[in-house]
Amino acid sequence: MIKKLILLTSLVSVTLFAQVKSNVEVPYISYEIKMGKGFDAVNANCLMCHSFGYIINQGPQSRDFWDKKINKMIKDFKAPIDAKNHKIILNYLYKHYGNGKLK
Ligand code: HEC
Repeated sequence: MIKKLILLTSLVSVTLFAQVKSNVEVPYISYEIKMGKGFDAVNANCLMCHSFGYIINQGPQSRDFWDKKINKMIKDFKAPIDAKNHKIILNYLYKHYGNGKLK
């Protein structure tokens, strides 16, 4: 029984090894979390459902875009975000991940 297990494990690792050896490229996307005023609010209000990368994956966007996204989270997904935090998060996202446009 133990011998069988060992054989099985080594088979599994051989397969894994073969996969790593082949030319598969795993995309690695790095993203920078910009610390600063407002990040605490993002941390407390946005990251219980998805990662930070999921948010800034959108790329630089307008203030209006971020405003609508926060509204979408509140309306569609029932994110418990009050008006005060909405504003703090919006300012944060626009400052660090904005494209300079209001609309
Ligand atoms: C209650 C859970 C929840 C909270 C809290 C939440 N989100 Fe989301 N968010 C979701 C879900 C679910 C999706 C995936 C929607 C989809 O795939 O269509 C999502 C997707 C997104 C997207 C991807 C674009 C899109 O429209 O789907 C962005 C950007 C985003 N959230 C931003 C935020 C921000 C900013 C906050 C904080 C203000 C936040 N989220 C808080 C649940 C949440």
